[in-house]
Amino acid sequence: MTSNFSQDFGPFDHKIWLNTAHQGALPRVAVEQAHEAIAWKIAPYNLTTDRFSAVPPRLKQALGRLIDAPADDIILGNSASYGLHLLANGIRWQAGDEVLLMKGDFPSAILPWLGLQKRGVIVRFIEPRNSVMEVDDLLAHLTPATKLVCVTWVHSFSGFAVDAQALGAVCRAHNVLFVMNTSQALGARPFSVTTMPVDAISNVGFKWLCGPYGTGFCWMRPELRESLDYNQSYWLAMQTADDLAKEQSEVVLREGLGARAYDVFGTANFFNFKPWTASLEYLLEQGIERIQAHDQQLVSRFIAGLDLDQYDLLSPREGPERSTLIFISRKRKEQNAELYRSLIAQGIYPAFRNGRLRFAPHLYNTEANIDAALVALNQA
Ligand SMILES: Cc1ncc(COP(=O)(O)O)c(C=O)c1O
Repeated sequence: MTSNFSQDFGPFDHKIWLNTAHQGALPRVAVEQAHEAIAWKIAPYNLTTDRFSAVPPRLKQALGRLIDAPADDIILGNSASYGLHLLANGIRWQAGDEVLLMKGDFPSAILPWLGLQKRGVIVRFIEPRNSVMEVDDLLAHLTPATKLVCVTWVHSFSGFAVDAQALGAVCRAHNVLFVMNTSQALGARPFSVTTMPVDAISNVGFKWLCGPYGTGFCWMRPELRESLDYNQSYWLAMQTADDLAKEQSEVVLREGLGARAYDVFGTANFFNFKPWTASLEYLLEQGIERIQAHDQQLVSRFIAGLDLDQYDLLSPREGPERSTLIFISRKRKEQNAELYRSLIAQGIYPAFRNGRLRFAPHLYNTEANIDAALVALNQA
């Protein structure tokens, strides 16, 4: 039996959302917090300084627990792109430094680095021999000039997970920075920055972490963060709104702010961050390992029930490469678009990516959801 998380979500109006890899659903506790945030704004005297200032630290606490890092090392963002841009724009590059990326990776993990070519940085793509970058691919491309490797943990377009531990270990052994986009993984699998050999991660909040759109965060090893050369001086990171009440004093740059210096502007973004905090606290309370077990059971059920005379399973059947993203194709690929439209018409929502169907179940999905999707697929 899977856990009954579904009662904490919805209502879904008898529709079946199997597209968490695009957008996660907001749990009810977070909906309540969103309503409260709106109430603060309807009558702004409710938006007290205490409430306003409590939003970012509470969110950082939850994110710190999620990745096993001190809350003070969390950088709040609005996307996965935000943190990756901090790195791309802040690292002290020298002409000739190399960045290695995976060909076919999600654009967020590629685009931030491309602009560095104007500064003489060499951006090279590793074409994986299998579905995603493996240790041998990486070893074949590393050179003495390689400074950084960036890859997505769970690949959005194939559903394969890279062996992050092994890639990170290779990078560490060669003194290369290892950066991961963890957006399709965190919330569906446990993670700890203390055991994973990674130098930085960047993550969206609105998929497996069940937050509103326009949320994200980044974590970097403190030594890396402190080595950045990045001009960001947000007044609210330097002082508080209350400071404005004091007699005008000279505006000065404060040093030594740590991760706070890099938080996205509008850090107390309470419409988004207040409900996102509630989502994270909810996920942590349920336990990420329990959620992983639930999600993986749904993935297993889907794969076991799929009619392989009609479909090819394109994502992993089992093993550590398997994620919560399942890719399938009809034997006759040209029928996939029509099948996608028919599923949507029946209230079943996968994604259509690169001409294939992607199913991505999360904790609010049930065995009954999977069975209904299988009936629709196998009878198509
Ligand atoms: C792996 C991955 N990273 C990032 C994103 C989103 O990127 P951003 O938050 O930068 O818009 C997605 C999907 O939307 C994704 O699949």
